[in-house]
Amino acid sequence: MKVALVGYGKMGHMIARAAELRGHTIVCTVDLFAEDAQCVTSDKKEMVAAIAASGAEGIIEFSHPASVMDNLVALIPTKLPLVVGTTGWRDHLEDVEKLVHDNKSALLYSANFSVGVNLFYRIVSYASRLMADFDEYDAAVFEAHHNQKADSPSGTGIDIAKHIIENLPRKKTIITELGSRKILPEELQVSSLRVGSVTGTHSVIFDSPADTIELTHRARNREGFALGAVRALEWLAAPEAGQGPKTGLFSMDDIFDSL
Ligand SMILES: NC(=O)c1ccc[n+]([C@@H]2O[C@H](COP(=O)([O-])OP(=O)(O)OC[C@H]3O[C@@H](n4cnc5c(N)ncnc54)[C@H](O)[C@@H]3O)[C@@H](O)[C@H]2O)c1
Repeated sequence: MKVALVGYGKMGHMIARAAELRGHTIVCTVDLFAEDAQCVTSDKKEMVAAIAASGAEGIIEFSHPASVMDNLVALIPTKLPLVVGTTGWRDHLEDVEKLVHDNKSALLYSANFSVGVNLFYRIVSYASRLMADFDEYDAAVFEAHHNQKADSPSGTGIDIAKHIIENLPRKKTIITELGSRKILPEELQVSSLRVGSVTGTHSVIFDSPADTIELTHRARNREGFALGAVRALEWLAAPEAGQGPKTGLFSMDDIFDSL
């Protein structure tokens, strides 16, 4: 399919390569600054006009948390299937959902497009459901990333913890700072390490007096995010079985549920 990229930074370039390897054509690249983008602009009308003129059949947006809402407000009315990887707009989810609904458009978002991480969420949910019957197992989440990462803990670490809490009733709250006190049994700790160049490691630890079970996802590079975003656009642009084009707000869970 013909794809437009909004945000042509590290991820944008990687997505372009992943899309081309899967037989798609990048017909338009939009960026605020990137000199190699076809359309360098901060003007939303100009951005939308460039995308329309390119004949794009879908859009992938990986820009910046400070830009993403303005981009979404401009891009949703184009009604082109829109995949959003930029983080930092979850507080506006209801507004975006309304905009998508009013425009009868289709938007898929995820804080982590890695297929492996999304498989990991499901594995962790299943393991947590099993653990619900075995009180002797405590649980915790550990994540490690490179020393340039701005946020801590990682959004993915928190999402993993949410999957545990949804499936393991004895864990009720997520804590990221323990201070100088004992952890309470109902608390689930997410602990973070920042060191060197680690791309991203997330572990779930189930620990009993007799043994330890560890589940680990270790990212080797960021290519998994790019490939996942392209696959997400392919899924979003494909019509519902026996129906018309997809409309509404979707997440990676919808893709996995449809398999
Ligand atoms: N969801 C995921 O799986 C996932 C994975 C990796 C990164 N990310 C997120 O994707 C975003 C981009 O990451 P990156 O590593 O490519 O960053 P980057 O800084 O390398 O690139 C971002 C690009 O977006 C451009 N930009 C900013 N505002 C823009 C606007 N209004 N219109 C067009 N372009 C604009 C910047 O000029 C820059 O070139 C970040 O928010 C990051 O957290 C998400």
